[in-house]
Amino acid sequence: MNNGLSTVLLCGFPHEEGQMLSDYLGMHYSIRICNENNYDAKLTESASIDLILAYHKMPEFNAISFLIEARQNNPQAVRVLAGDLSKNEMHEAINKAAIYQFLPQNWPVEQIELHVRRALENRELGYRHRHLSRDLKMAENVLKKYDTNISTTSKTRYKFNQLVYASPSMITLCDMARKAALTELPILIQGETGTGKELMARAVHNASERNAQPLMVHNCGGMSDELLHSELFGHVKGAYTGAVSDRLGLLPAANGGTVFLDEIADVSPTFQVSLLRFLQDGEVKPLGSDKIIKCDVRVIAAGNRNLEELIKKGEFREDLFYRLNGFQLKIPPLRSRIDDIRVLTEYLSERYAQSINRRILGISKEVLEKFELYDWPGNVRELENEIKRLVAVSENGQLVNLEHLSENIKSLKPLPNIALTKLNGDSLKETVEKLELSIISATLQKLRWNQSKVAKELGISRMGLSNKIKRYGIESVILEN
Ligand SMILES: Nc1ncnc2c1ncn2[C@@H]1O[C@H](COP(=O)(O)OP(=O)(O)O)[C@@H](O)[C@H]1O
Ligand SMILES: [Mg+2]
Repeated sequence: MNNGLSTVLLCGFPHEEGQMLSDYLGMHYSIRICNENNYDAKLTESASIDLILAYHKMPEFNAISFLIEARQNNPQAVRVLAGDLSKNEMHEAINKAAIYQFLPQNWPVEQIELHVRRALENRELGYRHRHLSRDLKMAENVLKKYDTNISTTSKTRYKFNQLVYASPSMITLCDMARKAALTELPILIQGETGTGKELMARAVHNASERNAQPLMVHNCGGMSDELLHSELFGHVKGAYTGAVSDRLGLLPAANGGTVFLDEIADVSPTFQVSLLRFLQDGEVKPLGSDKIIKCDVRVIAAGNRNLEELIKKGEFREDLFYRLNGFQLKIPPLRSRIDDIRVLTEYLSERYAQSINRRILGISKEVLEKFELYDWPGNVRELENEIKRLVAVSENGQLVNLEHLSENIKSLKPLPNIALTKLNGDSLKETVEKLELSIISATLQKLRWNQSKVAKELGISRMGLSNKIKRYGIESVILEN
């Protein structure tokens, strides 16, 4: 054992000189000695020898032959040659023994030690360089392999509080929401389920001057008027059977803050009147009480049903709509903001992977392509669930691959890349028909064979679509694949 010190082999030095060198170098290195009396060729084979310092002195010791042999036996050891050498000997030492350095005779030991140290440092650097180069090469190969599969963010990811987006429509909408947040006006958020209405309400509240006060969330769907009244305005003990104590309603409880009323379209015409009164004068009367409570609350309402249409049908009060509609924020469905899919996928997978202590290298391009093709009826909520499942089933660090996708997304076929379509020996007419066939098939798949929607998306009549499906026998094409 050399206790981590480098090992230096001193060869052929006359006794006194050898002793002096050994004493001095021994302070820094582990020393082995051989000379004409105990010349041991095996020593050159020892892998533990890091540097050989040989003294050439003919006829006693031919250090050049010794180093040539050492070079073959242990090429990693640095070879340094001392002694008086003729030109020919120098040539031989350089060419055959590949020595690192000559040391002139009569050098002070300090200088010799300095050279030994430099030579060993050089050897260590060479060693590290080889290792790093190998690691780099391996890393390059790994990256090359993933390069074709991993999608990297090319779009800027924007954030409004917890909302993440990149699409122009969301950029415009969130800019507007930031401005709306700074006013005291009520806000109406419309959008399909899972588009992020609640997240938007939170973002607005947090960006408003009320953010030190609470945001109270209430879902108005599927509740009787009595219960809704009691929840929002409060009640006094005995106001109805089961009202065993006074209850502070959500609106007075949120005083100074914001109340988010979800599924606003679901409230009854009677309750719409109560809400309207509250919005007009900011007063609530708890159920069973004569006392009026003033509350300073900003209302953000949301719904996934189109209120304008409900008004036309007489199911929603127009005056209430205008009261709620200080600002209207319409969140588009995910399928119409494809630019968001990539950034949301990356963001949601990173966030979820982190929460369950997994590491995801990235989402494969193929998966993203499918995601961009799918129509996401459940919007971001559905995407989030798909991602959670993908992350959960993928191995630590493994790419998220197509095999992990849910069936309805996996079976989607990509739209043809029109720019790359070539005639490939077909006539122009045949090529155009093939293109038409694949676009119609893909749209049918995407919209799950809802032919009215497909016709609308393709800009053709329902009848025209039906004719094309028959002509191309599309159903059988889909089934075959
Ligand atoms: N733009 C977005 N960025 C990040 N997460 C989002 C975004 N939109 C929706 N989500 C997530 O999707 C899910 C549904 O959002 P939510 O606000 O409850 O939708 P909604 O109220 O419209 O049904 C939530 O888990 C939410 O965190
Ligand atoms: Mg919601």
